[in-house]
Amino acid sequence: MAGHFITFEGIDGSGKSTQARLLADALRAEGRDVVLTREPGGSKGADEIRRLLLEGDPDRWSAETEILLFTAARRDHLERLIEPALAAGKIVICDRFADSTRMYQGLSRGNLRAKVDALHALMIGREPDLTVLIDMDPATGLTRAKGRNGHEERFEDFGVELQAQMRAGFLALAEEFAPRFRLIDGARDMESVARDVMACLREALA
Ligand code: TMP
Repeated sequence: MAGHFITFEGIDGSGKSTQARLLADALRAEGRDVVLTREPGGSKGADEIRRLLLEGDPDRWSAETEILLFTAARRDHLERLIEPALAAGKIVICDRFADSTRMYQGLSRGNLRAKVDALHALMIGREPDLTVLIDMDPATGLTRAKGRNGHEERFEDFGVELQAQMRAGFLALAEEFAPRFRLIDGARDMESVARDVMACLREALA
């Protein structure tokens, strides 16, 4: 039995991590076998790369170097956690995946999307079955994100312009990959958003 690969995407502070957790809890309560994970990270090696990526000065890495580091972390995560879980028929819920690289590295510092796509095709090759995009106003998202991530503030430090650019980029990406994307308005109470997420899941798992 093949599993289901579900990803959550959105700008920082969109509430996607909370929604990923709520969905995992709800599916587990129904007796489903769920793996909840996140990127960058999700495996021991990838968690080590996460620290390199998210801590330190904004200009610590160029966008090109970041593409390599995020892809290296993703490859380890995929080999060690995601693929084995899917092969065992589990539902894998991942907070961010390759769409985040398409946006944050592919768009934010020049158009590097072709490089992101080439490396993805070469080293990853896996796309989610379903991607839930939690849409959120950039300024609200940044206010929510700031200060809660301790040392992991490298990307928040790029500021509200980056958030706005990423939001527009994610909305365009949802059209580009329309069949697997579901767009959900994140500017509502947590329970209403969770209800919409669950409705998407029911449709996808049916
Ligand atoms: P998080 O706040 O969802 O934990 O994500 C951490 C930061 O990493 C977030 O600002 C977006 C960034 N990121 C990328 O730039 N590229 C990627 O491929 C991923 C997965 C995350």
